[in-house]
Amino acid sequence: MNFERTLIITGGAGFIGSHVVRLFVNKYPSYKIINLDKLTYAGNLANLRDVEDRPNYRFVRMDICDFEGVLELMREERVDGIIHLAAESHVDRSIKDPFTFAQTNVMGTLSLLQAAKCYWESLPEKYEGKRFYHISTDEVYGALEMDGTLFTEQTKYQPHSPYSASKAGSDHFVRAFHDTYGMPTVVTNCSNNYGPYQFPEKLIPLFINNIRHRKPLPVYGRGENVRDWLYVEDHARAIDTIFHRGQVAETYNIGGFNEWKNIDIVKLLIKVTDRLLGRPEGADLDLITYVTDRAGHDLRYAIDSRKLQKELGWEPSLQFEEGIEKTVRWYLDNQAWLDNVTSGDYQKYYEQMYSNR
Ligand code: NAD
Ligand code: TYD
Repeated sequence: MNFERTLIITGGAGFIGSHVVRLFVNKYPSYKIINLDKLTYAGNLANLRDVEDRPNYRFVRMDICDFEGVLELMREERVDGIIHLAAESHVDRSIKDPFTFAQTNVMGTLSLLQAAKCYWESLPEKYEGKRFYHISTDEVYGALEMDGTLFTEQTKYQPHSPYSASKAGSDHFVRAFHDTYGMPTVVTNCSNNYGPYQFPEKLIPLFINNIRHRKPLPVYGRGENVRDWLYVEDHARAIDTIFHRGQVAETYNIGGFNEWKNIDIVKLLIKVTDRLLGRPEGADLDLITYVTDRAGHDLRYAIDSRKLQKELGWEPSLQFEEGIEKTVRWYLDNQAWLDNVTSGDYQKYYEQMYSNR
């Protein structure tokens, strides 16, 4: 079958990546979508069961650090676009194991860039019609005070955690490949995402699961830290818009102007989860447990996404309360998914599904 375009989406078995793969496979049947993922603890092919048999979808288990493997795949499939989401993504893990973050996030991104450069520069048309889209985070900008200021695309990078430092390093490499070799790159920095299929080590799915099982909710510090939350499908739609219409070499911030203190989110999660489980309102407030703060815990993140809204017309679609209700409902309805990922059983799915293909 001849496809109009062939794209690699890295990290497509993870939280945000699976929403991006699903959107692209469904919306663009004329594109071939290759999900390139190493399947770390955070990658789960069960996130994509509904699209795995589509003719325009292919899964390849590969490490982004495997330069030769990626180059060969790009040649074999004549890849003309990369949407790069694969990363180690959890701040607490980065504090314990910074090497893995530097390896995957910095070296892995460099390896992908170099493979794309080698392949695209070998073609007669070179970079014409090509695109390398790198997904980054607002955390590279550092931390804001509680003073109403926002991160803009001009805010200087000041990462504090090993995670955000590694993402900053990867962002710099992507921009350097544009400036040095003329690669058509684009970078986006998005705020915290929430929604279905998020690994339950992150605040929202972890706490929903704990409320359900009446386990303590470990709130770091006093719960005063602020994050700016965006529903994951709104991020996936922004990625679609920017992949197709964003300007080469530009940066776009993505966020929903939706700042919440952690403790207020925790109370909202308790309220919604208790209601959906038929428990008396506030029954689980006593699960809140203040614990030692995260080392170097950034006080506040808040994104100014007016450039994306003005230039490309993207808007978030959901109010937070609506998004949280949908999200809590999803996790309560998908306890088997949660049990699988927390027990590690989901890793076996890959072996069963792909060993005899
Ligand atoms: P995730 O941890 O849920 O998924 C990461 C995916 O990458 C997994 O499928 C994993 O198997 C894969 N992966 C990890 N190392 C790999 C490697 N070496 N080679 C190939 N695949 C590998 O992450 P997420 O939350 O979906 O985040 C996706 C991207 O979006 C990341 O780049 C992250 O920095 C960025 N981001 C995340 C958020 C958020 O709130 N989650 C916000 C802004 C930006
Ligand atoms: P997290 O979901 O890990 O995202 P990030 O650190 O990338 O923003 O955490 C969101 C916020 O919730 C952050 O301020 C840390 C806090 N937090 C807790 O208080 N307790 C927890 O158990 C976790 C995982 C996070």
